[in-house]
Amino acid sequence: MKMTREQLYRRIEQAEPGEIAKLEAQIATCSWRQSYHIQPVTGLLNDPNGFSYYQGYYHLFYQWFPLGTEHGLKYWYHTRSNNLVNWENVGIAIEPGGPYDSHGAYSGSAIEKDGKLNLIYTGNTRDKNWIRHPYQCLAIMDEENVVTKFEHPVISDVPAGYTEHFRDPKVWQHDDVYYCVIGAQRMDETGCTMLYRSADLKHWQFLGEIMTTLPSFGYMWECPDYLEMEGQGVLIFSPQGIQPEAERYHNIYQSGYLIGEPLDLESREFKHGKFHELDRGFDFYAPQTMHSPDGRRILVAWMGLPDLAYPTDDSGWAHCLTLPRQLSIQGDKLIQQPVPEMAQLRGEQQGIQAQSTINNESRSFAGFHGIAYELECEISQNDANLVGIEFRASDTEKTIVQYNQLDRKLILDRSHSGAALSEANGTIRSCSLDVDSEAEVHNVIKLRMFVDSSSVEIFVNDGQEVFTSRIFPSRDSAGIQFFAHGGKADFKMVIWKYEME
Ligand code: FRU
Repeated sequence: MKMTREQLYRRIEQAEPGEIAKLEAQIATCSWRQSYHIQPVTGLLNDPNGFSYYQGYYHLFYQWFPLGTEHGLKYWYHTRSNNLVNWENVGIAIEPGGPYDSHGAYSGSAIEKDGKLNLIYTGNTRDKNWIRHPYQCLAIMDEENVVTKFEHPVISDVPAGYTEHFRDPKVWQHDDVYYCVIGAQRMDETGCTMLYRSADLKHWQFLGEIMTTLPSFGYMWECPDYLEMEGQGVLIFSPQGIQPEAERYHNIYQSGYLIGEPLDLESREFKHGKFHELDRGFDFYAPQTMHSPDGRRILVAWMGLPDLAYPTDDSGWAHCLTLPRQLSIQGDKLIQQPVPEMAQLRGEQQGIQAQSTINNESRSFAGFHGIAYELECEISQNDANLVGIEFRASDTEKTIVQYNQLDRKLILDRSHSGAALSEANGTIRSCSLDVDSEAEVHNVIKLRMFVDSSSVEIFVNDGQEVFTSRIFPSRDSAGIQFFAHGGKADFKMVIWKYEME
């Protein structure tokens, strides 16, 4: 049942007696709780926020509405980890409800300064006519994880020429100066990114828009992130209002990036190549990156999309975050690989291995089954029309990842995965694999899949493409079948089990 506005904008202490216990009881019996992904204790999770490294821990916060699975009053919930693999729930970091964040502590970022972690976020407020007034706010977290809000907003106004859709500050330091990008909408309802500068994180000077060659690309750009790596500038953002085009832009909202010369911080000109989607799956939005102490650029995203219902809604919780991915650049594309730390999930396991030529058939192998695992599969010497894997499979359910040799496309099909998802987001995603990539020349397809109780992340050909999706099979659907149709192919695979009871 949909909540009323009054119910949606309640703070956690305004919950009815027993309301949270009821959500917890529903969640305890939900078969889709994840084994190794970050998920909310109750209610709804959305964007990752404040991804950073501070005092020996990776800190990862997320947007959280504790009292239901709709987008209600948002908190920042805090998790931390010393290895990017095992995350500990710390608790609420930023509570909304103050004069400048009365209707939500919206997305933002974190940066260390003078031994403290500075959290810069959008305070969402609504007036009596329900018109938004966004403020960019600062909260400071100390060594004990205690968060104190700075009394006043650090940016109180939306610059002239832009609407109230103005949010999601992402801060970085360049020499002695701080810069920040903010997602915005122009008065003509096109999206863009704003650039600000500050010496102290408290006083910000508006510089203007980042000038791209995409003056009219969707109606709003959410969650911008600017970073530099390998001598290049990268602008990541989540544009809304892009129409599907061949295999691209099939999710209701997109997330992607532009790579180019480092942003000119004086002229704000960004010379870049074309927009690429970050992920080819169904559920991926609002990514945020951080710079690790050993110099890596790591990305985490929300494994969900706004404005869609999900099958766990009836069980009192919704959504999770993706695994952390390490970025690198190849040509004009970002390559995304699971962070090497993920191998720690394997523990003592050597992995169960199998190898076989599969000829016009579908085969299963001893030990290859499960509901939470990592599976590596290399397919070579492939002269079949169609090769692939059915997983989370039973007589009635299966999710299929397959490569179609004729049109050189990789396809993810969740039309029979289990509980149905919103039709608005479709059931099949496909993408052409880069023709001149080394793997194609050698006719090899490498799939590295992280399957959890209700999700799959498929890294294709060492991170050339990633398909990230929620799936909602029954726990009995644990089968894995490897197939080659219209020819034969050599398969080599390894599985590690990650079921944590
Ligand atoms: C993206 C987003 C952000 C906003 C936050 C609110 O999913 O809409 O733009 O800050 O979610 O939860």
